[in-house]
Amino acid sequence: MKKSILWILVLLFVFSVVSYSFAQPVEVGIVLPTKDEPRWIQDEARFNEALKTAGYSAEILFSQGSSAREKENVEALVTKGAKILIICPHDATAAAASADEAKEAGLKVISYDRLILETESVDYYVTFDSIAVGEAQGQYLVDKATGTGNPLYLYAGAATDNNSFLFFEGAWNVLQPKIADGTFVIKNSSKAIDLQDKAQLTRAEMGEILGQITTEWDFTTAKNLTEANLTMAGPEDKGDVFILAPNDGTSRAISDAFADDKDVTSYVSTGQDAEIPSIQYIIDGKQSMTVLKDVRTLVKDASDAAVRYLEGGVPEATHTYNNGRIDVPAKPSKVIAVDESNVKEAIIDSGYWDASEFTGLD
Ligand code: BGC
Repeated sequence: MKKSILWILVLLFVFSVVSYSFAQPVEVGIVLPTKDEPRWIQDEARFNEALKTAGYSAEILFSQGSSAREKENVEALVTKGAKILIICPHDATAAAASADEAKEAGLKVISYDRLILETESVDYYVTFDSIAVGEAQGQYLVDKATGTGNPLYLYAGAATDNNSFLFFEGAWNVLQPKIADGTFVIKNSSKAIDLQDKAQLTRAEMGEILGQITTEWDFTTAKNLTEANLTMAGPEDKGDVFILAPNDGTSRAISDAFADDKDVTSYVSTGQDAEIPSIQYIIDGKQSMTVLKDVRTLVKDASDAAVRYLEGGVPEATHTYNNGRIDVPAKPSKVIAVDESNVKEAIIDSGYWDASEFTGLD
């Protein structure tokens, strides 16, 4: 008996020495929501590029659409000694517990792209101007519409993501006056029709609309919802249609479903993220526009903020976002609307993606 305990102790000692010598120190822990969308693979790749010269050690973990996994990731990074947590929450409210845990362990918490809600444990928020994203999408539809009675189909992101509300709010700012004046007629949301005379919606009102038009940021949900909407709609609700699609992944699914409907003559569809497959869709005329959110800028801002904190400073803020508990200091970045007319300049000439990724570019 004694001998076996001794052996266990020896093995434990050897194991801890070996794992200690292999353990990489991590100063900055990065947690991203999922590998299943090109958007977040983009962020991983851009982080990896930036980390080569960052001057600190970092590790990137993915939560795969699970708040439980996200919490385990945060705990793993805390255990590895991280001093800064850069986290894009899968679910804004559920992530509060992870932020609290990191904060209690002494880390600085940077909310990345999506804001963590209902906690005081967020130090800084790096983001794009998400209202401007929605406004760019809405404006694109407005600019392409002529006359009155144009069918409008609305889609949104997941209600667990604070950004979904900001994108929708931005789009509503621009679309609502054009719904009120008869340019557009909403075809797929009775709640949005009930509220169409209100220039500004409360969060609860937006929540009601989102309940009818959410894609959950999921391609299959987007496809199924669109097909259900098109089944309910008659030929008179189709023809030349206008589609507010919240991001590129869902836009490809939604645009494909409209393209397959024999009563749809033409469609104008929006998106965001400048994902490679959607840039190809734009070149091929299968998606009308995207909003370029230059992830290189977001990664640089997050990286600069981390370095500031590591050096004992405070990152620059130009704005605050209320997360239900506190006003979080932030530095929102600009976005650019991209369609076939400027795709070469905005995407290729800017070095965002290489021309070799695409076919049919002149
Ligand atoms: C991001 C978008 C992304 C979406 C789905 C949002 O929070 O801002 O860029 O397309 O989540 O992952």
